[in-house]
Amino acid sequence: MMCLPASPPALASRLGLGLLVLLCLGIGQALEKKVVRGKVGEKVSLPCCHEIPSSESLQNYRVYWQKNITDVVLAYSKGSMMSQPERYQNRTEMDLWNLTLWISPVEILDNGSYQCVVQRNSIVVCDEPVILFVTADFSKPNITAEVSAESCESTEMVVTCSSHGGFPKPTISGTLNNMSVEWNARWVSESSLSPYNVTGKLVLNVTKDVNITCSVEYNGISKSASLLLEKTNNCIVPPVTPPYNVIFASIIIVTTFILATILAARYLPRRVCSHCCKRQDSVEECMKEHTKASMSPKVTSETSSV
Ligand SMILES: *[C@@H]1O[C@H](CO)[C@@H](O)[C@H](O)[C@H]1NC(C)=O
Ligand SMILES: *[C@@H]1O[C@H](CO)[C@@H](O)[C@H](O)[C@H]1NC(C)=O
Ligand SMILES: *[C@@H]1O[C@H](CO)[C@@H](O)[C@H](O)[C@H]1NC(C)=O
Ligand SMILES: *[C@@H]1O[C@H](CO)[C@@H](O)[C@H](O)[C@H]1NC(C)=O
Ligand SMILES: *[C@@H]1O[C@H](CO)[C@@H](O)[C@H](O)[C@H]1NC(C)=O
Ligand SMILES: *[C@@H]1O[C@H](CO)[C@@H](O)[C@H](O)[C@H]1NC(C)=O
Ligand SMILES: *[C@@H]1O[C@H](CO)[C@@H](O)[C@H](O)[C@H]1NC(C)=O
Ligand SMILES: *[C@@H]1O[C@H](CO)[C@@H](O)[C@H](O)[C@H]1NC(C)=O
Ligand SMILES: *[C@@H]1O[C@H](CO)[C@@H](O)[C@H](O)[C@H]1NC(C)=O
Repeated sequence: MMCLPASPPALASRLGLGLLVLLCLGIGQALEKKVVRGKVGEKVSLPCCHEIPSSESLQNYRVYWQKNITDVVLAYSKGSMMSQPERYQNRTEMDLWNLTLWISPVEILDNGSYQCVVQRNSIVVCDEPVILFVTADFSKPNITAEVSAESCESTEMVVTCSSHGGFPKPTISGTLNNMSVEWNARWVSESSLSPYNVTGKLVLNVTKDVNITCSVEYNGISKSASLLLEKTNNCIVPPVTPPYNVIFASIIIVTTFILATILAARYLPRRVCSHCCKRQDSVEECMKEHTKASMSPKVTSETSSV
């Protein structure tokens, strides 16, 4: 255990008190620093190290809440609150019994190390640091994929994952069918204490349908999204022109089929068309209706697979 005499310069000059604080750097004390996490806009409470016994009043105490050793956040002397920097006005409050500091709404700039110093009749009762980690939530990642080139074997895609408005600076990771992949990341922020936007890019050769995920992690929180990347060009029909006799045979088969359909429609009108045609409709109209109905599902299935 090592005790060093030290005077917090801000307090001494600001409040004009010849204040001597004993900073005791015990090993156990240094390891178990209190940590508080808060989200931007919410209310956080920073616990102090002393409770005023019910037999006593705040009159006998001086309480200082400081940030980063040098800034006074809030101070009480002889039971009344002393003037505080504008930044903390109307945003901070202290519980007059357990000396907990409340901050609401929390801002990114509030991130940092705080210290509660309690004096009773000019003797330091306790002095304890509390770390406040401020976070802001990132939006759910948005994954988009764009085909940049394709062949029968593979589809080359540019995949982008983006998320915005969070704090602190996040990491971005991903998996491709359960195998980890590295996003080419780019961060944008107005300053080191402003919200971040993050974008990850990846160029992939997709040879079969794969599931890609993107996770944005900050301060132990993770937001993920996934997208199924579909290989677009399957090349099922080989691009070879069929010989003439095949074409000729096809025409005959198709013509026969159409004739058969027309005849069937004429002689069995109720069975084929009762569901789509009124009796007075012509056969052509009936055929049109019928083909339209049988083609439409195919069209939609093609668009959705792009
Ligand atoms: C301090 O008291 C307030 C209410 O008076 C309570 O909400 C808070 O949890 C207390 N904090 C501690 C550290 O005891
Ligand atoms: C906290 O104080 C240190 C020096 O004591 C300084 O370098 C740092 O910029 C300060 N941080 C903030 C957020 O004021
Ligand atoms: C805090 O609130 C008081 C009273 O409502 C107001 O006069 C003062 O300007 C406010 N201070 C700040 C920094 O907003
Ligand atoms: C928030 O404050 C803590 C404690 O001072 C510090 O370790 C951390 O780096 C700060 N975070 C950011 C993003 O500045
Ligand atoms: C995702 O990103 C794309 C391309 O930037 C954009 O058009 C789309 O609106 C975004 N979707 C959401 C939910 O933000
Ligand atoms: C994904 O990988 C994890 C380990 O990395 C394994 O436990 C899990 O079974 C795998 N899931 C699939 C669907 O392959
Ligand atoms: C981050 O993204 C949001 C929404 O897309 C945008 O309004 C904002 O300007 C971006 N911030 C920066 C620093 O680029
Ligand atoms: C994808 O494959 C094509 C041809 O197979 C190749 O030219 C291209 O460089 C590949 N792209 C990547 C990102 O591997
Ligand atoms: C992709 O995989 C994730 C888990 O790894 C799963 O939650 C998600 O439903 C899958 N998405 C698709 C489109 O298959």
